[in-house]
Amino acid sequence: MDTTAAKRIAVFGATGQQGGAVVDALEARGAQIRALVRDPGSEAARALAERGIELARIDLDAPATVRSALEGVDAFFFMTTPGRDRQAANEIRQGTVLADGAAGVPHVVFSSVGGAERHTRIPHFESKRAVEEYLLERGVPAVFVRPVFFMENLTFMGAAIENGEVVVRLPLPADVPLQMVAVRDIGTAAAAALLEPDAVDGSIEIAGDERTGPQIADAIGEHTGLPARYEALPLSVLGDADSHRMFEWFAEDPAYQADIPATRSLAPGLLDLPGWLTATGWTPKTH
Ligand SMILES: NC(=O)c1ccc[n+]([C@@H]2O[C@H](COP(=O)([O-])OP(=O)(O)OC[C@H]3O[C@@H](n4cnc5c(N)ncnc54)[C@H](OP(=O)(O)O)[C@@H]3O)[C@@H](O)[C@H]2O)c1
Repeated sequence: MDTTAAKRIAVFGATGQQGGAVVDALEARGAQIRALVRDPGSEAARALAERGIELARIDLDAPATVRSALEGVDAFFFMTTPGRDRQAANEIRQGTVLADGAAGVPHVVFSSVGGAERHTRIPHFESKRAVEEYLLERGVPAVFVRPVFFMENLTFMGAAIENGEVVVRLPLPADVPLQMVAVRDIGTAAAAALLEPDAVDGSIEIAGDERTGPQIADAIGEHTGLPARYEALPLSVLGDADSHRMFEWFAEDPAYQADIPATRSLAPGLLDLPGWLTATGWTPKTH
């Protein structure tokens, strides 16, 4: 426990990946945590309560519930999501309701996405930029943590063991490096930004590693002790326009522009891909 013990921090999305990692990092630093949840009876919410985390029920269709859930907190973390059907309008609406609710909070950390401010024309990046702009226009005292591609994406995207060999397939040319970050480190970085309001000056794009497809395959190959290869897929394998534009943008120079040493100052113990593979023990499924 450190000197931040007295701080009360509200977290939106605590039952999800990023918010969950923020809760873990805040808990490790002894902060008092209030998780804003839509269903306190859900398994994930009850698991938080069992850890001694306060739950506050919110309904984004009833903005007053957000305002009252944020009463008395020192800082507030939130992320937004376009949801399964990738509706940018839903994400912007979610973000504006949360931003309105946060108007009286002394310090806000919004987890957006790397490149949000660089006119990417990726719908679910532009929706996060719209939330950033809304926070700025509304004068909410917010900083932006902008994570790059999650290492966790590899668990459902593009990696398999086939005939005793690791095969990584992504719609990304083999010579293009992709910055990536472990969700755990988003939590550590966001917790630092929440507990030390001067730690981030406006915004920070965060990453723990940068690798090409063949280098991703090599890291997984070394981790599993198996031979590994990479296959670059054409963009046409992507069914939805949003993902298509995102992978098209990944291949543009520059795409993500996180400063890895600066990320490490905010999140000591920052994981690179081999470190993440070791920390999580993840191996691809065998097909
Ligand atoms: N994957 C990547 O490489 C990457 C990189 C950068 C940014 N991002 C962005 O990260 C975001 C997703 O973050 P994540 O992975 O942490 O999401 P996640 O694991 O899907 O979690 C979403 C969280 O939001 C909560 N939530 C959603 N709608 C809600 C509502 N109406 N009321 C209350 N709570 C609600 C969920 O609560 P419930 O438990 O109740 O559902 C859950 O806690 C996306 O916007 C994505 O674009 C992703």
